[in-house]
Amino acid sequence: MLSLTNKRILLGITGGIAAYKCAELTRLLIKAGAEVRVAMTKAATEFITPLTMQALSGQRVHLDLLDIDAEAAMGHIELARWADLVLIAPATADFIARISHGQANDILSTMVLATSAKIAVAPAMNQAMWADDSTTTNLNTLVDRGYHIFGPAEGEQACGDVGPGRMLEPAQLLELSSSLFETGLLAGKNIVITGGPTREAIDPVRFISNHSSGKMAYALAAEAVAAGAKVTLISGPVNLATPDSVHRIDVVNAAQMLDATLEHMSNCDVFIGVAAVADYRPAEVEAQKIKKSDEQMQLTLIKNPDIISEVAKLDRKPFVVGFAAETNDIVSNGKDKLTRKNLDMLFANNATETFNSDSISVTALTKTSESELSAGNKNVVARNMLQLIATALGAS
Ligand code: C5P
Repeated sequence: MLSLTNKRILLGITGGIAAYKCAELTRLLIKAGAEVRVAMTKAATEFITPLTMQALSGQRVHLDLLDIDAEAAMGHIELARWADLVLIAPATADFIARISHGQANDILSTMVLATSAKIAVAPAMNQAMWADDSTTTNLNTLVDRGYHIFGPAEGEQACGDVGPGRMLEPAQLLELSSSLFETGLLAGKNIVITGGPTREAIDPVRFISNHSSGKMAYALAAEAVAAGAKVTLISGPVNLATPDSVHRIDVVNAAQMLDATLEHMSNCDVFIGVAAVADYRPAEVEAQKIKKSDEQMQLTLIKNPDIISEVAKLDRKPFVVGFAAETNDIVSNGKDKLTRKNLDMLFANNATETFNSDSISVTALTKTSESELSAGNKNVVARNMLQLIATALGAS
């Protein structure tokens, strides 16, 4: 089920008795890492309440094409674009007929027409309706268009008949939905990444910081999502857009970054410390702006916590990956850090070339190996870094 991590599923419910099974289906899809939004036809609301589906999906349920409020939040076209998979379960004979003719006369059929996502249909109807030529023709049309047809199962029906037409069970629909997506290198892994600089306040208007742009961390976050991971990015102040499906937590200083990191360690598989954390902070933060009355001023600085070392000391320690941005003796300084901080892997790079740049050249170090990665764009290098991490995880 790991291939559903980060996948966006629009669950379309139509008016069949099997609609009640969508409660369990939604729960299973979310448990498998998918994001679920629900759209229901009017008839579906007679079988299961929108409130139930809203509570389970944690999202507003889409019911009406002409609902001004809903359209202002996430409109039906936006939702159709958002989805990776539109899963229609249960799909009634009537709904199958309507979409096979390209009708767009309610919110769900409109989204089916508008989406370029994969579409899967889980038929559910009386066995005689299933056997009818019209249904067969309509389904063949959908198959020709590349739709996936899940089921139906055979068995006892709500109406008392026995035969094909029962909707597949939620666990089977989960399995089939999952089979539509490739499993990524880091499927299902929880990855926490720190990125950007930290700012250490001197007074209400001044701070100590550094030139880190956050680009490497953001590239790693985006590529880790693409590889199937659940990513939490704890970010210092940067000027970058949050990559899709990344859970971003904004912090300002090192103490906040440490707190946010430790809060997310309980189910973390891989921690990647990319942030350029300020090593020191002012011992006192002045409450008022400091006036420039004296010719000289002295600031007393105290050491910040070393976030990555704290993570590496945890009893239940994730796979810990560090960075070393050095200006000299890059590899030997990197090796020293790997050992001193008890890291599993470290990427050593030249700080003067790397900061604020779109490209990077790094040497990957572990306790037993040293290899140079091909230099290039941070996204491409990030993919190679994640490949090394995935290989090491497989071996550990
Ligand atoms: O000691 P140095 O700052 O060069 O170490 C770099 C590595 O340690 C990076 O992975 C960085 O994110 C992490 N680090 C940290 N907390 C600090 C300082 C560095 O997590 N206070």
